[in-house]
Amino acid sequence: MQETFPAKSCPTATPSASQSSIPLSILGEYTRTMIPINPTPIFPHAPRPIISIGAGGIVHDAHYPAYQKANFPVAGIYDRNGERARMMAEKFGVAQVYDTLHDAVTQAPANAIFDVAVPASELVALLPQLPNGRAVLIQKPLGETLEQARQICTICQEKELVAAVNFQLRWAPFVLAARNLIEQGVIGDLHDMEIRATVYTPWHLWPFLQAAPFAEIMYHSIHYIDLVRSFLGEPSGVYAKTTSHPSLPQMDGSRTTIIFDYGNLLRCNVETNHHHAYGLRHQESYIKWEGTTGAIKATMGLLMNYPNGEPDGFEYCQLHKGQEPSWTSVNIDGSWFPDAFMGSMGSLMAYVEGTTDRLPTRVADALQTMAVADAVCRSSRGGATVVDSDIKESPKH
Ligand SMILES: NC(=O)c1ccc[n+]([C@@H]2O[C@H](COP(=O)([O-])OP(=O)(O)OC[C@H]3O[C@@H](n4cnc5c(N)ncnc54)[C@H](O)[C@@H]3O)[C@@H](O)[C@H]2O)c1
Repeated sequence: MQETFPAKSCPTATPSASQSSIPLSILGEYTRTMIPINPTPIFPHAPRPIISIGAGGIVHDAHYPAYQKANFPVAGIYDRNGERARMMAEKFGVAQVYDTLHDAVTQAPANAIFDVAVPASELVALLPQLPNGRAVLIQKPLGETLEQARQICTICQEKELVAAVNFQLRWAPFVLAARNLIEQGVIGDLHDMEIRATVYTPWHLWPFLQAAPFAEIMYHSIHYIDLVRSFLGEPSGVYAKTTSHPSLPQMDGSRTTIIFDYGNLLRCNVETNHHHAYGLRHQESYIKWEGTTGAIKATMGLLMNYPNGEPDGFEYCQLHKGQEPSWTSVNIDGSWFPDAFMGSMGSLMAYVEGTTDRLPTRVADALQTMAVADAVCRSSRGGATVVDSDIKESPKH
């Protein structure tokens, strides 16, 4: 069964028999299983001007395409690499290129949102240079270590910055749709969440990652850690192992397994392998939620078949007594890149203007994600439960 839900509108009524050429016997089932899904994030009424600090790959590929789609105006741009800033300004029609960070922060419009997208190692030195009391969206991760994350939170507090972190997977249209279904009670009580990425990621394209500690955890799986927290709350602990790959031994981990401890009745794990270089056939990339009365599976096509990507997928199943389980496919408009970036920036703008009193990825919340990521790193370094090596083989068996 196939349904379509555009991002900004959702059907509120099921089709009547007279409107439809579907046979009545099938319509009965259709009417029962069709559930309105609303994947629309909160947007500001009056978008504010954005000042970019750092305008590298992610700004080109996701921030600016998303802002164009959402009609969020980019007023100015500063990048340590001036040539890069000028190229980006020309390509995306940004009026003002600043030569220095000082120029950017002193000449920015009073109501501007600073959009900081530099490597995490730069944040502790950069953030103190922003004017006090302003709004800032910081690219993830919040520093490269928990220690840096704490420092960044202190800086934000002392400067009274309204600061959020760009953990934008929370606003991916398929995640918004899943959350909406779960909030409607469609799958009952959530007792299982699984995220798996078996893909090929060309890590060599991001040289700064080669030197980063626990690179895969802190720069990729951290999205999943943040997402898990947003659905399940705080785990009491984690078991984890990150592994490098023979083709990239200098990178500190590029395949990671995480088991979250949520007690005896709630299972959650994350499994990433970014070195599946064997074609598309067995690549997979999905988030799956299972509950007492149903399940949802979202396929994240973006990560597969790099750099072209594959289509996303969204399916849900609702159990009905006495019937075989069946899955419903839903077309959800938009994808993780770039659409989710409208949500993270939109949520900060909406919070600043007072449209909402919730800032989901505020730095204090992001610090908690960093604390879980830190536990994942420590668990991996700490090693596994040692297998008893004292077992002697009997010569007779
Ligand atoms: N949220 C996501 O999904 C996502 C995806 C990719 C990257 N990122 C994050 O975005 C950040 C940047 O990643 P990228 O892929 O764009 O990297 P990149 O290397 O392509 O770009 C970084 C840019 O920042 C500039 N820069 C570095 N230090 C600076 C400073 N102190 N002041 C001004 N400009 C400075 C560089 O000149 C460069 O243009 C990283 O922290 C990364 O983790 C997030």
